Amino acid sequence: MDVKAAIEARRSVRSYVAGYKLSDEELKALMRAAQLAPSVKNIQPYYFIVAVSDRVKKRLSEAAWEASFIRDASAIFVIVGRPRDSPWYKIDAAIAGEHIVLQAVELGLGSCWLTAFSRDLIKSILDIPPEEDVVAMIAVGKPAEHPPQVPKKPVEELFKVI
Ligand SMILES: Cc1cc2nc3c(=O)[nH]c(=O)nc-3n(C[C@H](O)[C@H](O)[C@H](O)COP(=O)(O)O)c2cc1C
Repeated sequence: MDVKAAIEARRSVRSYVAGYKLSDEELKALMRAAQLAPSVKNIQPYYFIVAVSDRVKKRLSEAAWEASFIRDASAIFVIVGRPRDSPWYKIDAAIAGEHIVLQAVELGLGSCWLTAFSRDLIKSILDIPPEEDVVAMIAVGKPAEHPPQVPKKPVEELFKVI
């Protein structure tokens, strides 16, 4: 699959096949995709906690309002930013996260970004120190739905070519 096809096929998936476990190869490919992401001065001011156990996924889903579906995902990538390392940590973290999302498409997996959750609760569940920031989570799993592409703003509205 080429990059264009992956970009076209990507959707936010909010229903997953329960019990589907990622293979080591799938997990490695997703991690490698994030590892290769660009970041300001190559600082990579973030790390990922990858929840694959049912117990932790359940607790994370309870901290994510309206996202009980992530319980059925195979993995939840919690992106933890390090503000002390770089003021650009959120941008850098988002780029690395989207690398995971696009790699997931090529692997036949679905994903969904999540920011609607209690940061305090996630931090306490995962024992994340106060100086670090939970930027977002990304659920990844075998899609149990294939949603249509949602409407996007027209290109003319998004770009001014001068
Ligand atoms: C940073 C970010 C945070 C998001 N947070 C959530 C979320 O908390 N819950 C959710 O269901 N979807 C979340 N989404 C998914 C968006 O709702 C989705 O990308 C948007 O509706 C467009 O749909 P598409 O991804 O299928 O193109 C988030 C997406 C991004 C990029």
